[in-house]
Amino acid sequence: MRNFDQNSITQAVLERVAGAPDARTRQISEALVRHLHDFIREIRPTQAEWERGIAFLTQTGQMCTGTRQEFILLSDTLGVSMLVDAITHDHQHAVTESTVLGPFYVDEAPEVARGSDISGDLPGEPMYVSGSIAAADGAPLSGAIVDVWHSDEDGYYDVQHSHDGSELVARARFRTDAHGRFDFWSIKPAAYPIPHDGPVGKMLEAQGRHPWRPAHVHFMIEAPGYEKLVTHVFVAGDQYLDSDAVFGVKDSLIRDFEMHPAGAAPDGRILDRPWCQLTYDFQLNPASGAASRAV
Ligand code: BEZ
Ligand code: FE
Repeated sequence: MRNFDQNSITQAVLERVAGAPDARTRQISEALVRHLHDFIREIRPTQAEWERGIAFLTQTGQMCTGTRQEFILLSDTLGVSMLVDAITHDHQHAVTESTVLGPFYVDEAPEVARGSDISGDLPGEPMYVSGSIAAADGAPLSGAIVDVWHSDEDGYYDVQHSHDGSELVARARFRTDAHGRFDFWSIKPAAYPIPHDGPVGKMLEAQGRHPWRPAHVHFMIEAPGYEKLVTHVFVAGDQYLDSDAVFGVKDSLIRDFEMHPAGAAPDGRILDRPWCQLTYDFQLNPASGAASRAV
């Protein structure tokens, strides 16, 4: 086969990948070729534009390190991460909705006791967070692991300051009690721009978009027999709720971070200044194929 034109080239490549021994690989390869060729036929790039596209992808790869994943940022800002989330979380049960993981999760955050203050020496408005973890039918899940992380009052995560991960603050892991409950203290997070000093930042600028995310607290919740939940709770009233750079906001994940005057908090702590309170009750979906609740 030779002498392909603008249309026959697509069929030729499809025939070449049709022999892929794995059926899923074959399906993905064929769809990729069809959509990619249609995309190119639609935009009709000049040779210079095609070279710029290759350079953009090259720079995206070169920007990646152990702590910076530019391809995930690209997926996030093009709405692909939330599209995958929507497809993979099409639940029959009314459980807590998920959203993007983001690049600032750290696998080895320490497990600390319920009620701990995880803010280290960070300045900011004290924040008391409490809630529960339950199954879709409301049954409390004791021993569930609740991993939390959030930005500081200037909108930075700890890992953006210490690249070796030696100073973990505003992140920790908790284990729910017999009633499925957890609580902790920290400081109220701020809205922040996603890392925009690389090719994805340039793309956003060229598209006339801002890089900001509304203020939020991240949660990753795991319990045996249940699907892992990756989500955030957003601060009600934030100016970026309707223009999140990564399309991650869902109404069910927005809460008032209720302000309280100085005085006694629900856990008995006495605050000498105003503090805010976030309360959220999470519900997990049973793991596919899970026969029973087994926590
Ligand atoms: C985050 O919320 O941490 C985040 C999510 C997507 C891209 C950048 C940051
Ligand atoms: Fe975040």
